[in-house]
Amino acid sequence: MGLSQLSSVQPSSRTSSFCMRAFVHFWWFGLLVTSVVCGNNETDRLALLEFKAEITHDPFEVLSSWNDSIHFCQWRGVTCGLRHQRVTALDLQSLKLVGSISPHIGNLSFLRNISLQNNSFYNEIPPEIGRLFRLQSLLLFNNTMSGKIPSNISGCSNLLVLSVGSNQLVGEIPMTLASMTKLQIIAFHFNNLTGNIPPFFGNFSFLVLLSAFGNNLEGNIPHTFGQLSKLSMFSLGQNSLSGTIPPSIFNLSSLRQFNVGYNKIHGHLPLDIV
Ligand SMILES: *[C@@H]1O[C@H](CO)[C@@H](O)[C@H](O)[C@H]1NC(C)=O
Ligand SMILES: *[C@@H]1O[C@H](CO)[C@@H](O)[C@H](O)[C@H]1NC(C)=O
Ligand SMILES: *[C@@H]1O[C@H](CO)[C@@H](O)[C@H](O)[C@H]1NC(C)=O
Ligand SMILES: *[C@@H]1O[C@H](CO)[C@@H](O)[C@H](O)[C@H]1NC(C)=O
Ligand SMILES: *[C@@H]1O[C@H](CO)[C@@H](O)[C@H](O)[C@H]1NC(C)=O
Ligand SMILES: *[C@@H]1O[C@H](CO)[C@@H](O)[C@H](O)[C@H]1NC(C)=O
Ligand SMILES: *[C@@H]1O[C@H](CO)[C@@H](O)[C@H](O)[C@H]1NC(C)=O
Ligand SMILES: *[C@@H]1O[C@H](CO)[C@@H](O)[C@H](O)[C@H]1NC(C)=O
Ligand SMILES: *[C@@H]1O[C@H](CO)[C@@H](O)[C@H](O)[C@H]1NC(C)=O
Ligand SMILES: *[C@@H]1O[C@H](CO)[C@@H](O)[C@H](O)[C@H]1NC(C)=O
Repeated sequence: MGLSQLSSVQPSSRTSSFCMRAFVHFWWFGLLVTSVVCGNNETDRLALLEFKAEITHDPFEVLSSWNDSIHFCQWRGVTCGLRHQRVTALDLQSLKLVGSISPHIGNLSFLRNISLQNNSFYNEIPPEIGRLFRLQSLLLFNNTMSGKIPSNISGCSNLLVLSVGSNQLVGEIPMTLASMTKLQIIAFHFNNLTGNIPPFFGNFSFLVLLSAFGNNLEGNIPHTFGQLSKLSMFSLGQNSLSGTIPPSIFNLSSLRQFNVGYNKIHGHLPLDIV
């Protein structure tokens, strides 16, 4: 990269003028200060192109706008932060897209929201997604994603919404989820998850909605759910859960919807909630 290339920088944003100054200061040391000091918006452009490359069917030709004639921040479905021109949201929901999710998505390190729901994305959720520690919402519901929920997802330590319902996910709920204590919405419904519902869900003190109906979950409903003072919707129907409903759950004044039907649960609901 030479100065001539940098001279086309529009010093309108604070970042680029800072980078410019940093560069002018250091260029004769032969350092690529723009990429070292500022992170690298080129990383985002390349990662988006890798993402595009894994899409095999795009009937509305949404991704034809992902070309070099316009800046990637103007590509359809891409939102950038105002200051840094880094990708903060990727919204390509309900566009009949077919393809897999490129592991390079993990390089979009400023990403806060991923909305790919209601398409036909297949293959696994790439573990590289766990590198997106700023991610707040991951919406993948109604696709055909397979494989396990990657344990690396716990790297998304700021995640508020994890919505992967109506896919073909298998395996157990990863134990690494235990550290994701900011979660407010967890939707796993209509997959083929197995194993138990881990007791650590009781530590998700911001949890408002848990939907896990239509899987193959087994074991008891952990009594720790009784600690979730914000829980409003709790839906575990159509699994293979057994045991009894922990009475503490009926003390939750926030609870609006409760469904554990079509399991192997025995005992009766307390009369005052029926
Ligand atoms: C990356 O940032 C540099 C300097 O801030 C700017 O000149 C360049 O146009 C940007 N490139 C892209 C693809 O955003
Ligand atoms: C994403 O990051 C990985 C690891 O740092 C790197 O190997 C890969 O080339 C990057 N991909 C893009 C598109 O920049
Ligand atoms: C590039 O994207 C722009 C904006 O959507 C569009 O007008 C143009 O036709 C595209 N170019 C190609 C070669 O697809
Ligand atoms: C899902 O996408 C279809 C079109 O493929 C659309 O008709 C439907 O409204 C979408 N549903 C949701 C929940 O966005
Ligand atoms: C990103 O996700 C958060 C949490 O769900 C939400 O509050 C916010 O409106 C979303 N922002 C965008 C740009 O989609
Ligand atoms: C799920 O996505 C398919 C398209 O892939 C669409 O036809 C269907 O209506 C969607 N279901 C819901 C509940 O949105
Ligand atoms: C998954 O996490 C492990 C442990 O943190 C790490 O070593 C590995 O590189 C991560 N994998 C990916 C694909 O990011
Ligand atoms: C779910 O998993 C069970 C056990 O592995 C298997 O028998 C069943 O066919 C699977 N169902 C679906 C819809 O994949
Ligand atoms: C819940 O969090 C507390 C405090 O961080 C921890 O000691 C406990 O083991 C956690 N419970 C579960 C079931 O993970
Ligand atoms: C429900 O709440 C009442 C009043 O706070 C308390 O006495 C009782 O022990 C609680 N029951 C359960 C099962 O947590």
